Amino acid sequence: MDNRYIGVFDSGIGGLTTVRHLMKILPRERILFFGDTARTPYGSKSGETIRKFSFQIGDFLKAHDVKMMAVACNTISSVALQDLRERYPDIPVVGTIGPTSRNIEKSCSKDDRIGILATKATVSSGAYPKKIHEHAPEIQHIYQKACPIFVPLIEEGVIDHPIMDMAIRYYLDPFLKEYDINKLVLACTHYPLLSANLNRLYPGIEQISSSKEIAIAVKMELEKRNMLAGPDNAKRNIFYASDLSENFVRMIHSIFGSLEENPDLEFKNLEL
Ligand code: DGL
Repeated sequence: MDNRYIGVFDSGIGGLTTVRHLMKILPRERILFFGDTARTPYGSKSGETIRKFSFQIGDFLKAHDVKMMAVACNTISSVALQDLRERYPDIPVVGTIGPTSRNIEKSCSKDDRIGILATKATVSSGAYPKKIHEHAPEIQHIYQKACPIFVPLIEEGVIDHPIMDMAIRYYLDPFLKEYDINKLVLACTHYPLLSANLNRLYPGIEQISSSKEIAIAVKMELEKRNMLAGPDNAKRNIFYASDLSENFVRMIHSIFGSLEENPDLEFKNLEL
C-alpha cells in the first residue's frame, strides 16, 4: 500500500479530464495536479521547449515525492516521454500514447477509418500511427488532423458556444468527408471537453478518449506494482497552476462540483 500522491500534469486544464476518470476509478488515491496554464498551449511549441517545460514540472513533482507521474498530455507524451523516464528512473511514468493505441488496436478493425485529432506537435511526431502499426499493422486507415485553435478556446472557457462549433466544423467538415472517418481519437486531453459538441455535430461517430485510457493505465500500473492507496488516505487533492486563472478554478468546479461538495480540493498558484 502506498498513500503518496499520484502526480498528474498537462500544459493546462486538459489534464483535468484525466483526473476526473482517476477519481472515479481510484477513489482512494489523492492527486497532485499541475497545469502549466501560464505557458499553454504546448502543441505549437518546439520539441526542445516542450521537453524543458516538462522537466521543470517533473522536477517539481519529484520534489513532492509522488509515487507515479501521469503525463496527461499527448503533446508531452509524444515528444518527451522517454526523456522523462530516463530523468526519473525511480518513478513510474505513464503517458497517453501507449494506452490509447492499445485501445485502438483492440477496438478497431482493418475496415475502420480512424481520425486522430491532436495538436501540431503530436501530429508531426507521428507517435500514434507508429505505435498502432507496431502491434496492428492491419489497421491502415489512420488519418491525422491538427486542430490548434481548440486548446486556446478551451482554456478561455469558450466551449458550449457557436464560436467553438465553428472552429470544430472548420477543421472537421472537410477532414471527415475526405477520409470518410467513422471513429475519432481525442488525442489531446483537452478535447474530451468537446465531446458533447462533437456528438451533437457528428452523431454516430464513435469517440476514443486518451484521457480515459491513461487513467485506466495508471490503475493497472499501480495494481501491478502493488502501490494502490489504502482506505485511510487522509490527504487532500491539490491543484497547482502556473496561472491560477478564474477559468482554471471554474473548470475544476464544473468537473468536480463546488467547494462545499468537495471540501478536500485545494488550489495553489506556482510559477516554475
Ligand atoms: N492537453 C494537451 C495534449 O494532450 C496539450 C495541449 C496544448 O498545450 O497544446 O496534447
